[in-house]
Amino acid sequence: AGAGVLQGRRVLITAGPTLEDIDPVRFVGNRSSGKMGFAVAAAARAAGAEVTLVSGPVSLPTPDGVTRIDVRSAQQMHQAVFAALPGQDVFIAAAAVADYRPAEPLAQKRKKAGETWQIDLVLNPDILAEVAARPQRPFIVGFAAETNDVEAHARDKLRRKRLDMIAANHVGQPGCGFESCDNALSVYWQDGGEEIALADKSAVAAQLVECIARRMEAAG
Ligand code: PMT
Repeated sequence: AGAGVLQGRRVLITAGPTLEDIDPVRFVGNRSSGKMGFAVAAAARAAGAEVTLVSGPVSLPTPDGVTRIDVRSAQQMHQAVFAALPGQDVFIAAAAVADYRPAEPLAQKRKKAGETWQIDLVLNPDILAEVAARPQRPFIVGFAAETNDVEAHARDKLRRKRLDMIAANHVGQPGCGFESCDNALSVYWQDGGEEIALADKSAVAAQLVECIARRMEAAG
């Protein structure tokens, strides 16, 4: 990103998956590698921001100059985000947070028994929506992973979660979204939008950071 476009800003970012334990050896998770969120953290740092990165379990090095907080579950991510939130100017939610977690994680490994196994799941807190619902809030950027009707679904999330901006991945398309090194984003805000073409996640992150800085300036 352009040197200094986020100079002096404090930016909080979530990245990676959350893993929700079933028992001591099994979990419910998703395919997020953390690459997109880590690239955004590096780009925000390069743009002069003071960056805190709350990450689920990933195997990526911490970008230079970034403060990293590791968590495992959605509840832990929720707690870490709210602890780091005071004084932040921007919140970017790039994590793929598990929407549900096992209702009663088992203390001991479950033995194989029977033809089927039913696991009750309960809803996790929506970290992004809760941050956005605060009266004193930073500039808020959500991500969306959509397979179809990308603009309609993303704009619906923008409105419902009261975000300032949403960056939508077209996860149905090859070479995009989860796990891959490249991504393309459709970025929307209330009265506009911008396309960020397919490129490696570092280049896409740099453009997203530029876009955030422009929108923050426009919003005053
Ligand atoms: O990690 P990579 O392999 O690089 O892949 C990147 C990515 C595809 C995971 C990333 O770019 C992305 O799109 N992340 C959000 C994926 C997602 O879970 O979208 P969602 O539609 O479920 O959630 C919408 C938004 O709400 C997201 O900003 C999410 O972080 C946030 N959310 C969702 C649920 C929840 N309980 N708390 C949240 O904060």
